[in-house]
Amino acid sequence: MVGSDQLLIVGGGQGIGAAIAAEHGPRATVWTRTAGADATDPESLRTAFAAFQQAHGAPAALIHCIGDFAEQPLLGTDLATYRHLFASNVDSVFHTIQAVVPAMVAAARPGRVILFAAAGADKQKGMLRAPVYFAAKAAVVQLARSLAAELAPHRITVNVIAPGLIHHPHSHQESQQRLLARVPMGRLGAVADVLGAVRYLLSPAADYVTGQVLTVDGGLQG
Ligand SMILES: NC(=O)c1ccc[n+]([C@@H]2O[C@H](COP(=O)([O-])OP(=O)(O)OC[C@H]3O[C@@H](n4cnc5c(N)ncnc54)[C@H](OP(=O)(O)O)[C@@H]3O)[C@@H](O)[C@H]2O)c1
Repeated sequence: MVGSDQLLIVGGGQGIGAAIAAEHGPRATVWTRTAGADATDPESLRTAFAAFQQAHGAPAALIHCIGDFAEQPLLGTDLATYRHLFASNVDSVFHTIQAVVPAMVAAARPGRVILFAAAGADKQKGMLRAPVYFAAKAAVVQLARSLAAELAPHRITVNVIAPGLIHHPHSHQESQQRLLARVPMGRLGAVADVLGAVRYLLSPAADYVTGQVLTVDGGLQG
């Protein structure tokens, strides 16, 4: 299996993923539903990855940036919303890993997997604001920790970035403004704040860092 220096960014059409892609220019390949790769559909990913592999071989890094959000109390969450949040945040991670990571292992060279949770999802406490979303993100953290151990012998690191309130044109402006008072730094995060974390995890400085959650939230409380 031939490896490439490509970054495969799943969910990179807007927001954080698009900014990561912009930073890496032609080294980045972006998958979105609108581009024909639906990460909640394993068959769609298999097809997309076959095309990617034919063009580039295995990616050097896999960055998964998908995860829809809904702010509803647990008893007020209907089944369709519950299923959608787990499909978008957790199933999409599982399908992406299964479609892409075996080729990274077969390429037999160092690699990176970066997943996205949300600030607080790795803490053992209730998240009243968006309980189903945070339960799904907690599952992402747990999958990442296990995958990190599985892939460590292959020199592929797996880490999670947990953003707080990161502002971009498509972010949840109303809830971000409402929660701003809980950010001790007194401002919303910018996409550039997250890019720094991605840069670090992709760099040789993070060669020995795996199974970790890197929170980027300005000290967000609650
Ligand atoms: N922004 C924040 O403040 C914040 C806070 C905490 C956590 N996060 C997490 O950080 C990550 C990135 O956040 P973001 O704000 O940049 O997200 P976003 O604005 O919702 O962008 C998500 C991207 O994923 C694509 N996408 C959605 N569903 C997909 C699917 N099934 N298959 C393929 N692509 C899909 C979307 O494009 P298409 O619709 O074209 O497919 C879009 O390009 C997410 O995991 C999010 O939960 C963000």
